[in-house]
Amino acid sequence: MKVLLIGSGGREHSLIWKLNQSKLVSELACLPGNAGISEIASVFPIKVHEIDKIIEHVLLKQYDFVIIGPEQPLAMGLVDKLKKIGVKVFGPTQSAAQLESSKEFTKKLCSKYNIPTADYGVFDNLEDAKSYLKGMRAPYVLKADGLAAGKGVSLPETLEDAISELEELFSGKFGNASSKVLIEEFMEGQEASFFAISDGVNVLPLIAAQDHKRVFDGDTGPNTGGMGAYSPTPVFNDEIQNIVMNEIIIPTVKGMAADGHPYLGVLFAGLMITNEGPKLIEYNARFGDPECQVLMRRLDSDLMDIFLKAEEGNLDIIKELIWSNKPTVNIVLANKGYPGKYLNGSIIKGTDEANAKGEVVVFHAGTKYNENGKLCSEGGRVLNITSQADTLIKALEKAYNAIDNDIVWDEGFCRRDIGHQAIK
Ligand code: AMP
Ligand code: GLY
Repeated sequence: MKVLLIGSGGREHSLIWKLNQSKLVSELACLPGNAGISEIASVFPIKVHEIDKIIEHVLLKQYDFVIIGPEQPLAMGLVDKLKKIGVKVFGPTQSAAQLESSKEFTKKLCSKYNIPTADYGVFDNLEDAKSYLKGMRAPYVLKADGLAAGKGVSLPETLEDAISELEELFSGKFGNASSKVLIEEFMEGQEASFFAISDGVNVLPLIAAQDHKRVFDGDTGPNTGGMGAYSPTPVFNDEIQNIVMNEIIIPTVKGMAADGHPYLGVLFAGLMITNEGPKLIEYNARFGDPECQVLMRRLDSDLMDIFLKAEEGNLDIIKELIWSNKPTVNIVLANKGYPGKYLNGSIIKGTDEANAKGEVVVFHAGTKYNENGKLCSEGGRVLNITSQADTLIKALEKAYNAIDNDIVWDEGFCRRDIGHQAIK
């Protein structure tokens, strides 16, 4: 099969790496991809939000199957458009992707189908939001309803800060995405990311992973897209997985189908494991990044077969997936200044040397080859150093060893405490 993947991050490099191992795949392409992806797939300079150009390209190249990595094209209806031209595609339609693109949509679904989540109110004006806020306790949880590139959530500690955040949200901080604002009850507990795949009716559980959202060690500094991940995570066991499947994931898939939005794709549940049991923080309509990279390192089943069966509505044929039980980590190397301003174009060396030793697999995120053919940075999160070993500590040692001894990139930095919750 001739397969096209949409996206350019570390998530997409790990998906391409895994798809490249499938006997079902004869040709791989990626839009727009990155330097690492270009080593194993054809890449074309079309951005993920250029929906019409993507459709044109798909018609020209006659792909058999398209897979969508990031949320933006899902929310823009790329899946609907591909289906309209008769192309097989893995990913939710625009209406099903509302699970990520509208927090209010997800909250209403949770209320309707009794899915455990934080209590909330939703507001379209400052005055009502302010008076609701006064009945809540700190820390306050404020969320823009729509997509805000992972930055739409804030957790102010004081009422004063919460009110000024509300004012910013309603004065268009995230444009249309914050024309509605959710105020939620604060949930206490440990967080985990859990993944499942649905064909609209059947659900196949994947595994859980732990992300590290803050930029600096000790979970300090601003939120990022994710600075590292590991799996398995002690926060999540079989018992919790059963509860999550039965109380959260399956009711969601059934509810979405009953409401006329059958969900075909990856369901990424952000969960809080509270004293009262697991509760949903939010859904994403795609794999997580940096979580996907550790999932792909642990997956021993054929990824293309899973995507195909899901697209056909035959996911029930797959009884079980095969996973490595070995602790797996992903350390993100980011550009100095990220998640704020940073410079692109600095030269990176040593990724091939690191890969050649066989101790790590390096997935690229924001990288490109410059006009002299040298690998350089082109984004905030730039490289993912993944490794696997018999223990988490050994896996971390291998990854940090490659970062310290093989990779040469002066403008890069990483967190030094990935996996700290599990090691404790
Ligand atoms: P989200 O983008 O919805 O995943 O939220 C970003 C982060 O905010 C989450 O990973 C949690 O750490 C935190 N968060 C969001 N909602 C809540 C909540 N209701 N209670 C406690 N923490 C929350
Ligand atoms: N790592 C979190 C996300 O992909 O949204």
